[in-house]
Amino acid sequence: MQSKELEYRQRIAHELDILGITPEILACKNLPFYCEAEELTVGETDAGGRQHMMTPAAANAWSAMKTAALQDGVILEVVSAFRSVERQVAIIRDKLERRMPMDRILTLSAPPGYSEHHTGCAIDINTPGCMPTEEEFEHTAAFRWLEQHAGRFGFALSYPRGNDLGFIYEPWHWCYQPESTSKNQ
Ligand code: DAL
Ligand code: ZN
Repeated sequence: MQSKELEYRQRIAHELDILGITPEILACKNLPFYCEAEELTVGETDAGGRQHMMTPAAANAWSAMKTAALQDGVILEVVSAFRSVERQVAIIRDKLERRMPMDRILTLSAPPGYSEHHTGCAIDINTPGCMPTEEEFEHTAAFRWLEQHAGRFGFALSYPRGNDLGFIYEPWHWCYQPESTSKNQ
């Protein structure tokens, strides 16, 4: 293992330890491990002026998908894209401070080091009139559009209902996975 990766894994182990996410908890979940993206670009600047970072390839795919959706009368917005390990730690710490039990937290948020958002390829998507990151997104025209067309742009739904990773159903969370790009949609 390269020293940079070793250092990253040690940093993750330290953060997990502080949060109380034990190796036993992780072993039960069998989650994929993700490194933080090294090359990021601004993929979207939202209405509030917040810049959402993505890998250059994900940003290009996002831009093409958003334009195609708009041509079909569908508005796609970014809620969240790249997230650092520090940000993921803060999200979990915030839930702990609100006294949410860890087993519940880990159905909503991945442990640091295990969030697809670290890759710069995952995007939480919303559309006007819908509460962000809520299951009601499933009932929007935007979700129906994504179901039909996202594959063409290399995006896939990461956490369908009843997913094996134990996360809740996240109809808003799509990840750019070019190797799975569908040519048939
Ligand atoms: N909500 C997803 C699982 C994450 O925290 O990465
Ligand atoms: Zn997400």
